[in-house]
Amino acid sequence: MKILIIGGGGMVGQKLAHKFALSGTCGNQAITQLTLADAFAVPEFTIPSNFPVKSVVADITNPAIAQSLFTDKPDLVFHLAAVVSGEAEANFEKGYSVNLGGITNILEAIRLTGNGYKPRLVFTSSVAVYGGPYRENIDDDFHLQPRTSYGTQKAMSELLLNDYSRRGFVDGITLRLPTICVRPGKPNKAASGLFSNILREPLVGIEAILPADKSAPNYFATPRSAVGFLLHAATLDTSLLGDNRALLMPGVWGTVGDEIDALRRVAGDDIVALIKYEPDPAVERMLANWNFPRFVSSRANSLGFTAESTLDEIIQIHIDDELGGKIPGLEK
Ligand SMILES: NC(=O)c1ccc[n+]([C@@H]2O[C@H](COP(=O)([O-])OP(=O)(O)OC[C@H]3O[C@@H](n4cnc5c(N)ncnc54)[C@H](O)[C@@H]3O)[C@@H](O)[C@H]2O)c1
Repeated sequence: MKILIIGGGGMVGQKLAHKFALSGTCGNQAITQLTLADAFAVPEFTIPSNFPVKSVVADITNPAIAQSLFTDKPDLVFHLAAVVSGEAEANFEKGYSVNLGGITNILEAIRLTGNGYKPRLVFTSSVAVYGGPYRENIDDDFHLQPRTSYGTQKAMSELLLNDYSRRGFVDGITLRLPTICVRPGKPNKAASGLFSNILREPLVGIEAILPADKSAPNYFATPRSAVGFLLHAATLDTSLLGDNRALLMPGVWGTVGDEIDALRRVAGDDIVALIKYEPDPAVERMLANWNFPRFVSSRANSLGFTAESTLDEIIQIHIDDELGGKIPGLEK
């Protein structure tokens, strides 16, 4: 099986690629080739694998470059490339060009390849496709009313993927991801960055600034779960999805205050003391509209998608997967 990960240099793409390198299979099929495409040169892969791993610099806003990714007809495609929420809001043209233009070019490239070519395409959307006013429990069927350009671009992409699938050009599936937390590495331009920062930095003994009050809620799942969702979507029987190929993924609802309470339970008071409250009016204004509702992922659950069930578990998974099972901040 030939696999293409578009956005393969990003956080989720790298985690997925490492998982493939370690397992050598996807479902019960052996991987014969893995291509990591990204706008920048993805650093060389260090994990040994029993199949070739190719890195390709490809800007998917260019239709000809998008087309070139399909010359060798990958069987399975993950489309993870995106400009994240904060950047898509700050740079309107770039957001539409990458987040909407990119998927349009990819779907067209697949359609124009023709000759019965119909790969599985797994696309990552976001709960940003929803917007208030909310009812009590939000599920797959709640109307899409995004409040950001990023959410609008994801919602439009979902419709494109449904239509190209309905027309038989691609076998698509969309995953509406929760906020992936704890995001490893450096902070990015996602509006949701603070929800990871206040956990990640204190755990390694570094102060973190909390720019907003503790009442802001969010909906979380770990990078480990994100990879699990993608792998499950890669082999799911898509005839079970009907016409709506978009699935709300499972996750954990919680506020900043709930995160801090969980951090205290897992790592103790000294680690929590590294969080400094320094209100930033711009962030507070943004989070005032950030009224994440209780999401209900029963459709995804019934199809076998799973995630964590507590914030404590989410923090412990970060400690296990990123920090070697230890809390470096306690050793300082
Ligand atoms: N991380 C989250 O919390 C979260 C939540 C919901 C949805 N998602 C979605 O999941 C996907 C993966 O998220 P992530 O956290 O790994 O993001 P990321 O920012 O780490 O990775 C995205 C990658 O896309 C690449 N990219 C950007 N423009 C490109 C272009 N023109 N051509 C080719 N590549 C380009 C970037 O260089 C980057 O490596 C994204 O689609 C994101 O919108 C993520």
